[in-house]
Amino acid sequence: MKDYVIDTGMLSKRYKGRYAVSNLNLKIAKGEIYGFLGQNGAGKTTTIRMLLGLIKPSGGSIRIFGQSLAKNRMSILRKVGSLVEYPSYYGHLNAVENLEAIRRILDVPQSRIDEVLHIVGLTKESKRAVKGYSLGMKQRLGIASALLGNPELLILDEPTNGLDPSGILEMRELIKAMPKQHGITVLISSHLLSEVEQMASTVGIIRQGELVFQDTIDNLRLQAQGSMSLRVSEGEQVLELLRRNGIKAILSGSTLTFDNTDDLVVSGAVNEIVRAGHSVYRVEEKRKSLEELFLRMMEEGVNR
Ligand SMILES: Nc1ncnc2c1ncn2[C@@H]1O[C@H](COP(=O)(O)OP(=O)(O)O)[C@@H](O)[C@H]1O
Ligand SMILES: [Mg+2]
Repeated sequence: MKDYVIDTGMLSKRYKGRYAVSNLNLKIAKGEIYGFLGQNGAGKTTTIRMLLGLIKPSGGSIRIFGQSLAKNRMSILRKVGSLVEYPSYYGHLNAVENLEAIRRILDVPQSRIDEVLHIVGLTKESKRAVKGYSLGMKQRLGIASALLGNPELLILDEPTNGLDPSGILEMRELIKAMPKQHGITVLISSHLLSEVEQMASTVGIIRQGELVFQDTIDNLRLQAQGSMSLRVSEGEQVLELLRRNGIKAILSGSTLTFDNTDDLVVSGAVNEIVRAGHSVYRVEEKRKSLEELFLRMMEEGVNR
């Protein structure tokens, strides 16, 4: 059996008879960046709150670092850093002073403050009052506080929400470095695939409280099916010719599109078309983008 940093079994949360999270089996391996994806209201924050011991599950189990969260809450959470929703700060204090307040609770050495400020790139701004910070800087300060206690696991709930493109880029670079440079496993939630696809190794897609996909991002890509498009001289006639050969195509202008990308099927079709006296000007394979596949999964769900 694989060692998982987070391993939930049939984890569920019910609010007034309605399931916000239903029978979730999350498997997050050590050292990976796990993208937890779903539309607004899908159940991401509810799941994360349960993982952090902030709310009680209605059913199921949570194991973190191989131990039951219900039985070892304090010792587990000491090794978990988190950023959930918008963190609150003392606006009139600077970054060092804000971190100092948390440092005392965690009881880590003072030098750790400089370290985490360096990691998130706030060293130069650390003496400025936080109320003058941009949203991106505030989020980075949030990551800095999450890192103060030297966590082995970082749980980030939509850390890029509300950030501008450059803020998103900075956040991405920061998170990407966590497993490699600091040996930290990361769970990051988002409602946008584009935000996590460049850093996550594994993705879990939650839809109406249920996990509809959980696998490597490479396997998600493999599922993005391709189609062929052919630009020909006489569209209508070729459409009919293909139909007689058992290929259902769609005609748009002089371009025919069909779902089969098999080499033999494609070369057979091209041969038939040419033999019947038509011309093939262009043959193109179109891969359905990962984004299209993702949106389809979020809408209809694909059970695995
Ligand atoms: N405290 C609560 N009481 C009742 N319903 C809730 C509560 N918190 C969340 N929900 C509901 O649970 C569902 C999942 O919400 P949430 O976990 O916040 O989704 P996400 O973070 O993916 O946007 C939503 O339908 C939401 O309305
Ligand atoms: Mg949420």
